[in-house]
Amino acid sequence: MSSITYLANPGNLKKPYISLLRYPGGKSSLYGRLRTLIRLNGLSNGTYVEPYAGGAGAALALLVTGQVREIVINDLDPAVYAFWRAVVTEREAFSDLLVNAVLTVEEWTKQKEAYLTAPRDDYLTLGFATFYLNRTNRSGVLNGGPIGGKDQSGNYKIDARFNKQALSERLRLLSLYSNRISVRNEDGLQVIKEFAASPSAFVYADPPYVEKAGSLYLNSFTKSAHQSLADCINSLSETKWLLTYDDVPLVHELYSDRRRELFSLNYSAHRVAKANEVMIFSDALVTETGEDRLF
Ligand SMILES: C[S@@+](CC[C@H](N)C(=O)[O-])C[C@H]1O[C@@H](n2cnc3c(N)ncnc32)[C@H](O)[C@@H]1O
Repeated sequence: MSSITYLANPGNLKKPYISLLRYPGGKSSLYGRLRTLIRLNGLSNGTYVEPYAGGAGAALALLVTGQVREIVINDLDPAVYAFWRAVVTEREAFSDLLVNAVLTVEEWTKQKEAYLTAPRDDYLTLGFATFYLNRTNRSGVLNGGPIGGKDQSGNYKIDARFNKQALSERLRLLSLYSNRISVRNEDGLQVIKEFAASPSAFVYADPPYVEKAGSLYLNSFTKSAHQSLADCINSLSETKWLLTYDDVPLVHELYSDRRRELFSLNYSAHRVAKANEVMIFSDALVTETGEDRLF
């Protein structure tokens, strides 16, 4: 059955801030909603899979609060992958780099160079450079400029988002869970296919937006990539998957046979922002909304 429902506040639970990356369009605020879906579908002992993980804020929050047993973080971007891989497998060396990081435009230039030229399998160098730029660039956008500008004349300076103590604490917390985090660098479709037949997997796919992707992420999807994802995931009627996208006509076209729900990431108790995102549910997923919420 096809349907669209509207929900103003998709995740009205306090979520733990745990990701070390700032991610434009990050979905950590869906923590409460994901937690409910995981419980409703009896997947608390299962594997939570993000094939397009980015900052993986929701995945990590679910893991450290015991909502799922293990998580799979996959991202095709080699820099994002290197970051997660270094954090999970070279925590102490990463921690030393973090604590000793020099927050100047001169160092920013060096890290930018490392980001562009480090061997893709030098996970520590590339991963730390990715992290450094993410924390010192405006909005965390990797190919943007430093907060405060190169002349540091802005109100906020390059160190505004680099709280060493808070970041070190997050890193230490994650290290307690590192044996339950699997980090991958594959095409998201491969990962979806790999977990499609697993009855204990919950797949949350948050691919690049249809319209806003270009400026935000290094890998933006073409129209045919959106189509291929839809062809694959629409056919997985037994798999427990959830997909989020920007609310644009192409998405409704591709998923016209699935249950859909509009939501806003910018909801707060004082302000209901216009819904501009859409959630799409696999037929196998039990949701709390039920028939009574459809229109
Ligand atoms: C919308 S972002 C995910 C944001 C994430 N949900 C969060 O909360 O931070 C999409 C991510 O997909 C990654 N990506 C793009 N194309 C991909 C592909 N074909 N396979 C896997 N990951 C891909 C991008 O590098 C980006 O990190």
